Amino acid sequence: MTDALFDPASLRQHWPAPANPRPVVTFGAGSIVGDAHFPAWKKSGIPIAGLYDPDREKAEKLAREWNVTAFETPEEAAAVEGALFDLATPPARHADVLRGLPNGAPVLIQKPMGGDLGEATDILAVCREKELVAAVNFQLRFAPMMLALSDAIEKGLLGEIVDFDVWLALDTPWHLWAFLRDLPRVEIAMHSIHYLDAIRHMLGDPKGVHAKTIGHPNHDMAQTRTSAILDYGDRVRCQLSVNHDHPFGRRHQACEFRVCGTKGAAYLQLGVNLDYPHGEPDILEVFPAGGSEWVQVPLEGTWFPDAFVGRMANLQRFVSGEDDRLIGSAEDAWNTMALVEAAYRSSAAPATPLEQRP
Ligand SMILES: NC(=O)c1ccc[n+]([C@@H]2O[C@H](COP(=O)([O-])OP(=O)(O)OC[C@H]3O[C@@H](n4cnc5c(N)ncnc54)[C@H](O)[C@@H]3O)[C@@H](O)[C@H]2O)c1
Repeated sequence: MTDALFDPASLRQHWPAPANPRPVVTFGAGSIVGDAHFPAWKKSGIPIAGLYDPDREKAEKLAREWNVTAFETPEEAAAVEGALFDLATPPARHADVLRGLPNGAPVLIQKPMGGDLGEATDILAVCREKELVAAVNFQLRFAPMMLALSDAIEKGLLGEIVDFDVWLALDTPWHLWAFLRDLPRVEIAMHSIHYLDAIRHMLGDPKGVHAKTIGHPNHDMAQTRTSAILDYGDRVRCQLSVNHDHPFGRRHQACEFRVCGTKGAAYLQLGVNLDYPHGEPDILEVFPAGGSEWVQVPLEGTWFPDAFVGRMANLQRFVSGEDDRLIGSAEDAWNTMALVEAAYRSSAAPATPLEQRP
């Protein structure tokens, strides 16, 4: 079903590959490395020099599985000539790991950029002091569906974006991430942060945010439900309705973006979060300017691991001079952390009270 006005297959879905990628040295041997980092680096031909994790057993097991070196010390890992450093460490460890890297080194830092805005500010200070070429792994921006959406917007297929709606009703298996149980900040800091970062990428920084984030009586996770309104003034409405406590069958579950412009619109399904961890396909449909029906964009690839491929490609290409813009730099990512911080502040503050009946 191709609308005569545009060829959906022509939308860009992949970031160009670097010609001569630097070898990657990864810090951390946790689940995300085996699930997404190494599959992405292998898939895209990025050489993996090795990894370091203070948990030797974990490091050696993962190194054996991927046939890479397990460095014995962080110093040995940091000494790899011409490397790009890939941090898959807990957020609170990022700043210390960065301090041990050579000045001027390229580095990809896993999200979130620290546990809160204070830690993000420390990380930014280290990056500046050491003149690191640092990007943060807010990789949703590079998912094939999101690159295609950005391309559709750049091509004017939607007109001026005036509405961005994020709608989730999921049964998220939080028990899979035991470490989240003790954290004071969960839903926005760990999950919706991806959507906030992607929205900033498309719409820029909002003037402010109204938010409420809460848990659920059926469990003790700090927060699993969020409502937020991002204030972009009077032309753009932007809101997130996020409910991870919807265990009432697949029928009315959802993980969707509805993006409307003055002339056209887009609908996205972010499949990975549905029926997690099996996932469902991502979906992108566009109702193009001047068109008369929704057109499905045939997607080549998914958020995990293809978005990691694009994220790494842009950093590699920026370092080599093939790209002139580093997307999601540490400087830019700090603003996503500031938006998260503002959302928690808003949630803790009282809402506008109602007048008392006279
Ligand atoms: N981008 C995404 O979508 C995404 C998804 C999952 C996790 N993450 C992030 O990735 C990071 C790792 O997550 P995970 O699920 O793999 O966690 P994990 O707990 O499974 O693994 C973290 C590993 O880091 C190691 N570590 C601690 N200090 C270290 C140091 N100084 N140097 C090297 N290694 C060190 C630990 O020993 C552990 O093995 C976190 O920051 C998390 O927020 C991002």
